Amino acid sequence: METGYSVFSQSLQPTCCFLFFSFTLSFTIFSLLLFTLSLLKPHCDCEICRSYRSRSWSPEFDNLADWYTHLLRKSPTNTIHIHVLNNTITANPENVEHILKTQFENYPKGRPFSAILGDLLGKGIFNVDGDSWKFQRKMASLEMGSISIRSYAFDIVRSEIQSNLIPLFSSVSGEKDSVLDLQQVFQRFSFDTIFRFSFGLDPNTLQLSLPISDFVMAFDVASKLSAERAMSVSPLIWKVKKVLNIGSEKKLKKSIEVVKSLAQEVMENRRKIGVSTQNDLLSRFMSSINDDAYIIDIVISFLLAGRDTVASALTGFFWVLSQHPEVEKSIREESDRVMCPTKELASLEQMREMHYLQAAMYESMRLYPPVQFDSKFCQEDDILPDYTFVPKGTRITYHPYAMGRMERVWGPDCFDFKPERWLQGGVFCPVSPFKYPVFQAGPRVCLGKEIALLEMKSVALSLVGRFDIRVATPEKALRFMPSLTATVRGGLPVIIQERKR
Ligand code: HEM
Repeated sequence: METGYSVFSQSLQPTCCFLFFSFTLSFTIFSLLLFTLSLLKPHCDCEICRSYRSRSWSPEFDNLADWYTHLLRKSPTNTIHIHVLNNTITANPENVEHILKTQFENYPKGRPFSAILGDLLGKGIFNVDGDSWKFQRKMASLEMGSISIRSYAFDIVRSEIQSNLIPLFSSVSGEKDSVLDLQQVFQRFSFDTIFRFSFGLDPNTLQLSLPISDFVMAFDVASKLSAERAMSVSPLIWKVKKVLNIGSEKKLKKSIEVVKSLAQEVMENRRKIGVSTQNDLLSRFMSSINDDAYIIDIVISFLLAGRDTVASALTGFFWVLSQHPEVEKSIREESDRVMCPTKELASLEQMREMHYLQAAMYESMRLYPPVQFDSKFCQEDDILPDYTFVPKGTRITYHPYAMGRMERVWGPDCFDFKPERWLQGGVFCPVSPFKYPVFQAGPRVCLGKEIALLEMKSVALSLVGRFDIRVATPEKALRFMPSLTATVRGGLPVIIQERKR
């Protein structure tokens, strides 16, 4: 028989449990916050840390990267340390070579970075260190170095330009008051291209009339939310949300599930038609690896690495070009000289002959690198070539955006856009990759560099040849959003006019 007391105590149980749970949760969150605050060293009161915390740099500089550039230029070693972030930042080529090559093993991506993209990228090449990275790098280098994959990529790029990009530009050309966001167009273009290259299917996001597929939407959400983890004040915030499966973390989990299960479906269909007849990355990796989840991780790494980088590079290129009509004119002259003026698409051989175009591309990425900064984590205490001491556990960042603006590296005209600085007797001459680490450098240099340049040059040639593209608000400086890849806040609105030839 139930006594009054037992009924009372039973009715109290859920309340007690709730109170206990709430107390434990609040206590845990509070302790974690205290721990985070202690890690952030908010007590550091040096001028740089004060300015970082209060954002007092912002009235004077358009972007955080411009403020860092200013600090790095002022520093005698071109290296600075932000105490509140435990982050050493360098724009010194000798230091960059030390981190990316000479002491490569001591500067892995590290756990903090892998955790951010870990759920989406799993064990994919972009997100791992050590033996797993070495294995994938070897295999992927063999594939990416083959002539057949380059011509496969080139065919995709040409077909996307002809079937989607040019028709879209023609449709808005000359339209009164018609403004196109060039950044968004390039984001869609580069997504379609890298998706076809990776999975052998065209998501057609440039065909504005078609609905966006579930895969594309889920991938978009998953990559945005993963990148947003990096922007949160402390990793503990997203980690707690993940454990509790709430808010953005719940959404992220769902979208990753959609991406992985649709990728699995594509694999199963591919198996039915036979992988040996296909050229895409997925089919290529399926012929040499047996683990489905691992293959998906690898291919998704490529998708992420090759997606917004190319779009960002093209956006920066057309921005500087619209400010330098003399460079645009020289590109057109070179293109008319190398190929027949009425032809729209250059062949691979013709593109190789266009040294001025290559120089203009490199020069625009010197000033507007798609990856503005990139970080590693120091494993063991170390001393950099400029004698900066780096304690174990420090985040160390090389900063291509600032490096492109270092007088010591590029001379007093470092802020000027001058493709000629890359040419000797009309021939393109590359510089040390540690001076220009736009594609990173050393053993982990970008695997898609050649394909990216091919894509960018093809797009630039076909658009510059056929259209006049003018930025709608040329007087406004570029302001970037906090993101893994340089993304212009508000996009790049342009006005398009088909040229009379
Ligand atoms: C202008 C365009 C591009 C730029 C500026 C660029 C830049 C970079 C940078 C800076 C890294 C090093 C990132 C890090 O380790 O944190 C990287 C890695 C990588 N990139 Fe690119 N990338 C571009 C296009 C592409 C494309 C189109 C692909 C694929 C076809 C690609 C595939 C990769 C891969 C797989 C890695 C990882 C390499 C490794 O960890 O060993 N990239 N890229």
